[in-house]
Amino acid sequence: MLDHFDLLAPLYDWVIGPPNPARPQTLLDLPTPGRLLDAGGGTGRVTAQLRGLAGEVVLLDQSLPMLRQAQAKGLIPLRGDVARLPFPDASFDRVVVVDALHHFVDVRAALADLLHVLRPGERLVIEEPDIQHRVVKVVALAERLALMGSHFYAPEASSRA
Ligand SMILES: C[S@@+](CC[C@H](N)C(=O)[O-])C[C@H]1O[C@@H](n2cnc3c(N)ncnc32)[C@H](O)[C@@H]1O
Repeated sequence: MLDHFDLLAPLYDWVIGPPNPARPQTLLDLPTPGRLLDAGGGTGRVTAQLRGLAGEVVLLDQSLPMLRQAQAKGLIPLRGDVARLPFPDASFDRVVVVDALHHFVDVRAALADLLHVLRPGERLVIEEPDIQHRVVKVVALAERLALMGSHFYAPEASSRA
């Protein structure tokens, strides 16, 4: 079934703009010789910045058109559902999720799977827009009107999710 990101894919990077590469690098404590998973990685906007900073960088997303954009950047993307990850337990040293958690239909299953594939003691970084920010409130309303099914968490709620 076609989803919103399938339609947005060709314009996504242009609309959202490049990420600040320093932020994920610092939070993820890069470089590392280990494996890094970018879950819900979309067009590879973030992964492209992390290339070369980990032994292997894997980008997983459920939208083929988003993944095609990533492929055009020379990345090797993988199609899959973050709530049913096709990896063995403890197979990644770093896991990052940028601006995608609020789109996951089954957040609990996704978090459980992300923690399973992470090596014990290693790092999971989840970056989300702050719903208390006025611009994010407008984006959340637009996504609701577009029936995107997004579910934004306030920072204090995310510690209980
Ligand atoms: C707002 S985009 C963010 C993409 C990328 N992380 C970035 O910051 O540019 C959210 C992405 O999450 C993906 N996504 C949503 N639910 C997913 C799921 N259950 N499994 C894998 N990817 C998912 C969408 O296809 C989309 O590419």
